[in-house]
Amino acid sequence: MSASAPGKAILFGEHAVVYGRPAIAVPVHALQARAELTTSEVVEGGMLWIEAPEVGFSGAVDLQLAGSSSERADLRQPGGGSADEDAPKEPPADPVAGLALAVERALEHFGATPEAIAGDRSVGLRLEIRSEIPVAAGLGSSAAVTVAVLRAAAEYLGESLPAGTAAELALKVEQHYHGTPSGIDSAVIAHGKPIYFVKGEQPTPLSVAAPITLVLADSGRAASTRQMVDGVRQRWEADRPGYEGLFDRIGAIAAEARRAIQSGQIAELGPLMSENQQLLEQLGVSTPQLEVLIAAAQAAGAPGAKLSGAGGGGLVMALATAETAEAIHDGLLAAGAARAFTTQIGS
Ligand code: PMV
Repeated sequence: MSASAPGKAILFGEHAVVYGRPAIAVPVHALQARAELTTSEVVEGGMLWIEAPEVGFSGAVDLQLAGSSSERADLRQPGGGSADEDAPKEPPADPVAGLALAVERALEHFGATPEAIAGDRSVGLRLEIRSEIPVAAGLGSSAAVTVAVLRAAAEYLGESLPAGTAAELALKVEQHYHGTPSGIDSAVIAHGKPIYFVKGEQPTPLSVAAPITLVLADSGRAASTRQMVDGVRQRWEADRPGYEGLFDRIGAIAAEARRAIQSGQIAELGPLMSENQQLLEQLGVSTPQLEVLIAAAQAAGAPGAKLSGAGGGGLVMALATAETAEAIHDGLLAAGAARAFTTQIGS
């Protein structure tokens, strides 16, 4: 059984979305995470053999399942204990714990016990992960891998997993990676369509009236979403009125962008992207390197460009057309981007 999930990019509204403002995100189908779940006779029942070459892991972990009698340390929380309700204070020690957790969440969701899973306690499970999505690059790698794992587990059990359920389960796993994510990554990746997103609400599908060409560039510097979100929170604590004002303006930009996208007024997105970038700079999440890339995209003809995702490194996004995309792509690489690619939304 194998399953996949796409990468994602945030068009407007990152960070402010954590504080309840709307944001817009799109799937990036050119980059996929894949997961395959099968039985394994190499490990015993209740155990999971993981092959995850992108994170350099090959080995067995214990599954924490209702009905399992194995005794083992809790992979997810240093002190052990239930991980059911609240997000733990610390992320898992390594991404492998997140993979095991995604399998557990799916199996628990479907009420599966070790016996039900393999029909034989002596047989365990094997999870193989392959992902084209760079890690910590603002492209949603952790959420995409999680959704792929959830889908692989559902397929393994012969169950269907609606997008909304996949998003909810993935958000719980994301909390273990990132602390207090807004849920936008899990939602856009699980739905696989452009969305207008408000934290805590069902995402609204966004109809794209005219195609949007974007050039995405990976700065090559990994950044921790958790650290960037924590930094904004500390500065917000120190200056709530100032930061609330910035969040309000970012939310208003996302709302304006939604109207422009739905009515096919793509040219309006350029200035909105650039204004969103200025506000992200004021939030303290941009970097000189990202700004060099943004300036290069603009010099090559992009009417607007911004960082995308948590910032501090990661992704830059530039608005393009079929005519300008190549020059912008080349300009971003010449300015030091590790890689760049063009993607079209709503073709
Ligand atoms: O860095 P990414 O791609 O995981 O995006 C994070 C987006 C934030 O708005 C900064 C955080 C969130 O949970 O929405």
